[in-house]
Amino acid sequence: MKGGAFSKLTLRDIPLDGKTVLLRADYNVPMSKDGNVADDFRIRSSLPTVRYLLDHNCRVIIISHLGRPDGKRDMRYTLEPAAARLAELLRSPVRFVDDCVGHKVFMATKRAALGTVTILENLRFYPGEEANDSDFARQLAKQTHADYFVQDGFGVVHRAHASTAAITAYLPSVAGLLLEREYMTITQAMHDPARPLVAVLGGAKVSDKIQVIEALIDVADQIIIGGAMANTFLADKGKFMGKSKVEDGQQAVIEKIYERARAKVGKDQVSTFLLLPSDLGVGTSLEPTATRQDVSINAIPADGIALDLGPHTIGRISAAVKKARTVIWNGTLGYAEIPAFATASAALADTLTAHADICSIIGGGDTADFAINWDARRGESFSHVSTGGGASLELISGKVLPGVAALLDAR
Ligand code: 3PG
Repeated sequence: MKGGAFSKLTLRDIPLDGKTVLLRADYNVPMSKDGNVADDFRIRSSLPTVRYLLDHNCRVIIISHLGRPDGKRDMRYTLEPAAARLAELLRSPVRFVDDCVGHKVFMATKRAALGTVTILENLRFYPGEEANDSDFARQLAKQTHADYFVQDGFGVVHRAHASTAAITAYLPSVAGLLLEREYMTITQAMHDPARPLVAVLGGAKVSDKIQVIEALIDVADQIIIGGAMANTFLADKGKFMGKSKVEDGQQAVIEKIYERARAKVGKDQVSTFLLLPSDLGVGTSLEPTATRQDVSINAIPADGIALDLGPHTIGRISAAVKKARTVIWNGTLGYAEIPAFATASAALADTLTAHADICSIIGGGDTADFAINWDARRGESFSHVSTGGGASLELISGKVLPGVAALLDAR
């Protein structure tokens, strides 16, 4: 699919009145120890599609996975709390059925009235879900009496599972509003961004993000590297990193990244194009009480753990980001769980929200969590906070997402 254009049918393209819609959402949400939804961002993000279907007089049957119960009925992963949270958000009852296939589902969905929402139990309680099993997909389609399948679980469309791929053989399948928005926003930024485009990458591992970095080298005007990932780059340059987290065996990967960057901007510009920290916020433990010391990258103490970027680096990042018109941010810039080491991530969030002319696209589970919790408007202050972790990374990398590819093409 060409970037920036959504070439799939969406729920706006089909006659919905009086129909039963099987809606795939991604309600794989963090749960608290007492079994409640700890973060409802993904559930809230599904509301426009759920409301659209209700406003169009549909019978809505929602399916999702939660966690990785490995094909077994493990009640730590029940979707019942997600159903309760959805009911609170919709301010109307949501019926929960404690299975996703079988007689109970057949009866409950047959009896469901138009204009109501039913949620079925975790798809991953059955091995057929992750195996992309046709028979399991056929049961989902037939036993729910569905007329249409609407894919709105952006977070899971990088998986070829029964509820993202095989199901589309049994029902006319179109995209929901969240999927369309996520896809359009991210591909637009990768293919036709307002420039300058600055990419800010953090998080732990270089190896997890190699394809993302390569794709961003090709399209971005500048790439800023922070988080523990920066430690690996600095160690590769021969810097002494004390007790900081450094990923082993990444020399060849880093050389490949620099080769690509040099080919794009030339040898002299590469250190401006790929911006590394010049100072760091260092602690001696990961305890919430850990104290912080700001040091140059040439003066990291033997017992020091790099947990944040230093003030000089934060200033350089702010200056670069202020000039940007598009910012793609993936990966926190420090150990943001401890406020003393969330300075760089908070400064970046401040800069993005203070400049309304910057299109800010935030992706990746931890980064999205940080942005939502930092923002008094729960993420609304940014242009786009993605509900996808792996899915957003794969889309940025330019990979085909099986759960999108399987949907009906728009003509
Ligand atoms: C996610 O949280 O990234 C999605 O819900 C997919 O979950 P998975 O990584 O367990 O397939």
